Amino acid sequence: MPDPTARGMRVVVGVTGGIACYKAVGVVRELALLGHDVHVIPTHSALQFVGQATWEAISHNPVSADVFTGVDQVRHVALGQQADLVIVAPATAHFLAQYAGGMASDLLGTTLLATTAPVVVAPAMHTEMWEHDATAANVDTLRGRGVHIVGPASGRLTGSDSGPGRMVEPEDIVRLALGVVGPKPLAGKKVVISGGGTREAIDPVRFLGNRSTGHMATALAAEAHHRGATVTLVHAPLEARIPSGVQAVPVDSAQDMREQMLEASQDADIVIMAAAVADWTPVETFTEKMSKTSEDSWSLTLRKTPDIAKELGRHKPTGQVLVGFAAETVADDDELVARARAKLNAKSLDVVVANRVGDKLGFGETDTAVWFVQRSGAPVLSTGSKLTVAGHLFDVLPGT
Ligand code: CTP
Repeated sequence: MPDPTARGMRVVVGVTGGIACYKAVGVVRELALLGHDVHVIPTHSALQFVGQATWEAISHNPVSADVFTGVDQVRHVALGQQADLVIVAPATAHFLAQYAGGMASDLLGTTLLATTAPVVVAPAMHTEMWEHDATAANVDTLRGRGVHIVGPASGRLTGSDSGPGRMVEPEDIVRLALGVVGPKPLAGKKVVISGGGTREAIDPVRFLGNRSTGHMATALAAEAHHRGATVTLVHAPLEARIPSGVQAVPVDSAQDMREQMLEASQDADIVIMAAAVADWTPVETFTEKMSKTSEDSWSLTLRKTPDIAKELGRHKPTGQVLVGFAAETVADDDELVARARAKLNAKSLDVVVANRVGDKLGFGETDTAVWFVQRSGAPVLSTGSKLTVAGHLFDVLPGT
């Protein structure tokens, strides 16, 4: 297997016709800067967004979308045969349909049929197109053939709409793609991650919940999977999509999560408590839907939930690395780090990932800024997308 840190892999970057083409320039640039031999294959539609001259200048190689260029070198299959890695970014809904159908109607299609190299595809399209049954079926087909699908991310799209469909950020595509062909630092390790926001039932239809979207936990799960780990994601309800290759264990309440986490983490090498676990749960859950009474107010009595991280810390097997989160509404970083350190000690954690939260801050899939507070040494700041931060966390974890 080629080592992605070694210079000089031959990487084919397919670019299909979507507005995210302008961001794909960053993918090509990053690969070229890392010293790889990059060959861009745009579709004709992609050239409507970013022209041939840009791709050639950035990749330092000739570029053509045409099967009838370089016929003497049998270029329509040579690029695929010689590739160590193929990345398609952005991948449109149309491209996914063509690739799933094995169509070879252009240079990118012939190249993909001719290659045995790992293929990483980063879809980008409007949410309706991504969620269409046809696209979902095509993605399933491709995954079934071993194609690595990266994203899409959620967020603002080209128009005024937002939702799943944004291309994953260029540096994350490159890192994940190189991870596919590179050494797997977490091979043979079991990683258990909790995510989402627990729901504490009041009655059969109402619950106490929180604003967690689960994006940090799914980014951690995707990153651990790419690094070769066996990953279990014990998740309360979340908005984020569960990455492929990850074993999902759905739970609802803090109590459910406790049971599943205690069981799953017994033989785990790394346990990450990224879930937003409710601290309080109703003492009594009504078996029937509460109706409006004539009273103007009523009281709900709450009791503490079990502190899962603390319990995991108490029973931690030797060698296991336990990571917790601390989401705080404090104003300054010193106070944030101090609170994180207090949680690290109180719960016998090895690392606490600390971030500031508040109205619109810290939730969803926006870029984030967190501090890694560890048993020894100064806190480390990590910024970027949640996938980038997930990568940084695995880089600093002891024993990984
Ligand atoms: N946590 C947990 N079980 C709970 C509450 C929290 O395992 N019942 C975990 C979280 O998943 C996180 C860490 O503990 O990894 C810190 O959670 P946080 O809510 O920030 O802190 P608390 O310990 O609940 O303290 P406080 O709410 O007072 O800040």
